[in-house]
Amino acid sequence: MRRKRKDDLVLLKEYKAKNLSQNKQSRKAELERFAEIGRAHAYLMHEIRRPLVTIGLLARSIHMRGKLDEEDSETIEKIIEMVKRSETELRDFMQLVEPSKGKREVVSVGSLLKSVYRALKPRAKDADVKLELRCDGDDEILVSCMQRNLRRAILNVAQNSVEAMAETGGSLALGCDMADSEAIIKVEDTGPGMDLEVVEKIFQPFFSTKKDGTGLGLSLARKIIQDHDGRMTVRSKPGKGTIVTIHLSIYEGEDKQG
Ligand SMILES: Nc1ncnc2c1ncn2[C@@H]1O[C@H](COP(=O)(O)OP(=O)(O)OP(=O)(O)O)[C@@H](O)[C@H]1O
Ligand SMILES: [Mg+2]
Repeated sequence: MRRKRKDDLVLLKEYKAKNLSQNKQSRKAELERFAEIGRAHAYLMHEIRRPLVTIGLLARSIHMRGKLDEEDSETIEKIIEMVKRSETELRDFMQLVEPSKGKREVVSVGSLLKSVYRALKPRAKDADVKLELRCDGDDEILVSCMQRNLRRAILNVAQNSVEAMAETGGSLALGCDMADSEAIIKVEDTGPGMDLEVVEKIFQPFFSTKKDGTGLGLSLARKIIQDHDGRMTVRSKPGKGTIVTIHLSIYEGEDKQG
């Protein structure tokens, strides 16, 4: 119990430092939401990760004894593989929830979007979604970022669009632009859109309208964008579609960085 509270506090402190300019009321709501993520993190860390690691170790030791027939050996290999996959997923999740401490790299927004495009292509095809990459001259738009995290944030947003159009099909465009000293990333779909009351809740951790959704995709995406001192806005119209816009500071070279 003590540990959980400590984890929450670390997250809250970090969050507080970053959001001094927000108005009081929304800040309070945000802090509460952040504490919820902190609790989920502590829960996963202590209640899920530890037994998972133990299952992996036991399975490996049975496998190494080499006394199994072919069928059992294959079963144990499958268990080891699945445990490994779950551990990776969990590690990714915890990295996203913990205060970001990854190394920053300078990358082009275009390369990030291309990577998201490639990852989504098969799922978009299955869902009959026309996926488009609108990124002319993208290599000019550079950002200093924790690449893996930022890619994950954009992927979470775009994945929602594909999921929203899974039954109807539609179009999804990934675009980037530059205005003043900001990189602007746009994820635009022609899906069912959302009512205002849904839009108001989409950044709440664990809010989901999906049968199998964890409801963490967008809250984590926003946490990552905030860790990059950026912001994310959502515009949605029922029956028309949704546009998620991400604003990030452009990298202008060592000399100009603060
Ligand atoms: N492009 C979109 N079109 C329509 N609804 C959306 C869109 N993006 C998000 N939503 C709504 O916002 C909710 C929250 O999204 P979020 O990504 O946080 O969680 P999720 O997709 O439900 O679950 P997870 O991402 O964990 O699998 C979704 O359940 C959905 O109702
Ligand atoms: Mg999602």
